[in-house]
Amino acid sequence: MNLLILHGPNLNLLGEREPEIYGSMTLAELNAKIGAFARELRCKTRIRQSNSEGELIDILHANRKWAQAVVFNPGAYTHYSYALRDAVGAIASLGVPTIEVHLSDIKKREKFRRTSVIAPACLKQISGYGWESYTRAIQLLAATGKTHGR
Ligand code: DQA
Repeated sequence: MNLLILHGPNLNLLGEREPEIYGSMTLAELNAKIGAFARELRCKTRIRQSNSEGELIDILHANRKWAQAVVFNPGAYTHYSYALRDAVGAIASLGVPTIEVHLSDIKKREKFRRTSVIAPACLKQISGYGWESYTRAIQLLAATGKTHGR
């Protein structure tokens, strides 16, 4: 299965940024873990990060024919980007499902983080398991892909 792993804004600063919330792992270390986990499940990955809303949309569009599923941490765009929600909805309508992931538990933080405008376009939201939010999403997609013969 081909998986697009997409990290949104400020995730390039993982390891330095608010480690008490997001942990001490850098983005490079997180990506290495994701890549190794996906390989074990025979999934191919493309891993991308952008701080820009438009670029995240472009990456989703550009990978719509290659990717069979997407694991997406939209960062703060989660809470207000209808443009990203539409992009996720657009690729879902082409048969490419997305799981939204968060390192922290967005339901237990500030009020503005409790809402995701992107989640309704996603298969599922997985939040609060640190780097394992990503691996749980990959596991679920790989299992779903198998039952759908992909
Ligand atoms: C985050 C949660 C968001 O609210 C925040 O803006 C982030 C990271 C997470 O992974 O926990 O940038 O998506």
